[in-house]
Amino acid sequence: MRTLVVVPTYDERESLPGTLARLRASVPGADVLVVDDASPDGTGELADAVAAQDPGVHVLHRAGKGGLGAAYVAGFGWGLDRGYEVLVEMDADGSHRAEELPRLLDRLEADPRTDLVIGSRWVRGGAVVSWPWHRELLSRGANLYTRLALGMPVRDATAGFRAFRSATLRRLDLATVESHGYCFQVDMTWRVVRDGGTVAEVPITFVERAAGSSKMSRAIVAEALRKVTLWGARRRWGQLRDLLPGRTR
Ligand code: GDD
Ligand code: MN
Repeated sequence: MRTLVVVPTYDERESLPGTLARLRASVPGADVLVVDDASPDGTGELADAVAAQDPGVHVLHRAGKGGLGAAYVAGFGWGLDRGYEVLVEMDADGSHRAEELPRLLDRLEADPRTDLVIGSRWVRGGAVVSWPWHRELLSRGANLYTRLALGMPVRDATAGFRAFRSATLRRLDLATVESHGYCFQVDMTWRVVRDGGTVAEVPITFVERAAGSSKMSRAIVAEALRKVTLWGARRRWGQLRDLLPGRTR
């Protein structure tokens, strides 16, 4: 299937070349789209230089730092316009190992009913290497809270290494996605589940970056907490309303 790997970047000058090289070697048939938010460190120009040498690499430049969610929405739109059948999300910093991508893609191809394959840290066989304890606690806590609030049978709803069938993305109405930060991941998972879609998780090993720094922030955590709580409350309200007398289902 025609596949596009969307790689959002903000100040990833040191990491991007290695990530792109590993991607092109591991999945030569897939094209790559770097979505750069005018990184002050020149990541966008670096990506342009790679793209000039490699017709399988493309670059989308955005005016300024608009968050992970907005970068992916723009990247997905680019890929859908060009007829790709599978759209992949992957971090630029080396945390998502390109060598594991074929397993995600195989899983999506194997079952036409699967809408989304998540590379999961928190299923049996999944792992995280070199994360400080507070990041592991944050990720596990966020996933537990998400599961309780939304009742989704997904262990790693915040994961950023995943493959969507493009037909699924077309159904989800990306224009209404308002999540700016990393809660975009939960937002997309929740949209697939609410739409009656099927999510599969395959174990991956997430390796903490060796260069550069995380863009995770207090504001990103706050947005996620706020949104997941709101979505959970809406879901409960819907369940309650269905129980009220005089309702036909
Ligand atoms: N274009 C763009 N704009 N890219 C961004 C932005 C932005 O505003 N913010 C972050 N990125 C890019 C980074 O450059 C990197 O390639 C990727 O998004 C992930 O950012 P990191 O800052 O490295 O994330 P992390 O390692 O802290 O978080 C990981 O865990 C999160 C929670 O589980 C990632 O896997 C996230 O995807 C995941 O949601
Ligand atoms: Mn990272």
